[in-house]
Amino acid sequence: MTHKRVAILVSGGGSNMVALVDSMTGDHPARPCLVLSNDPKAGGLVKAAERGVPTAFVDHRPFKGDRAAFEAELMKPLLAAEPDIICLAGFMRVLTAGFVSQWNGRMLNIHPSLLPKYKGLHTHARALEAGDSEHGCTVHEVTAELDDGPILGQARVPVLPGDTPDILAARVLEQEHKLYPAVLRRFAAGDRTPVLLG
Ligand code: GRF
Repeated sequence: MTHKRVAILVSGGGSNMVALVDSMTGDHPARPCLVLSNDPKAGGLVKAAERGVPTAFVDHRPFKGDRAAFEAELMKPLLAAEPDIICLAGFMRVLTAGFVSQWNGRMLNIHPSLLPKYKGLHTHARALEAGDSEHGCTVHEVTAELDDGPILGQARVPVLPGDTPDILAARVLEQEHKLYPAVLRRFAAGDRTPVLLG
């Protein structure tokens, strides 16, 4: 069985990356080939190395906002790893349309809201401010439009009395760790039928 090769991009602690990597065993159709970060100090790089996954980083700061130059550098470890699929997992750099088009139809992202609601940042605070009774997370294909591509999975959680953005974020993150591996397993098998949890 030839496994699909998966590269995972992280900016922070990498708990979603860990959930993905730990799920890619046994009869899973994919295996991790690289964990890449824009921050040399990202905790996710350490956790990936502990799991024997090759790691690399391209620090975005020296590029002083020149996204094209940063992305040209980012492409080097990616092309060397030859991924079939890229998973953005808490990767906080906004990618240009040019970069996204090179991975069209094979780059996924997890976003902590029930898209199309609350694209962008501070999703938990915005759901609380709006008085929503439910919230959640979404895995979608990445397109040029931020947080906008075809939805491949969603998980719903209740919003409870006394919730703060942090409490709600923790409840959503638990579901992210179930949803993303479930979507990746299906996507790597060529199935784009959305996974719906909760
Ligand atoms: C997650 O909530 C994810 O939805 C968001 O950033 C957070 C990253 O968490 N994009 P981690 O680095 O995977 O722990």
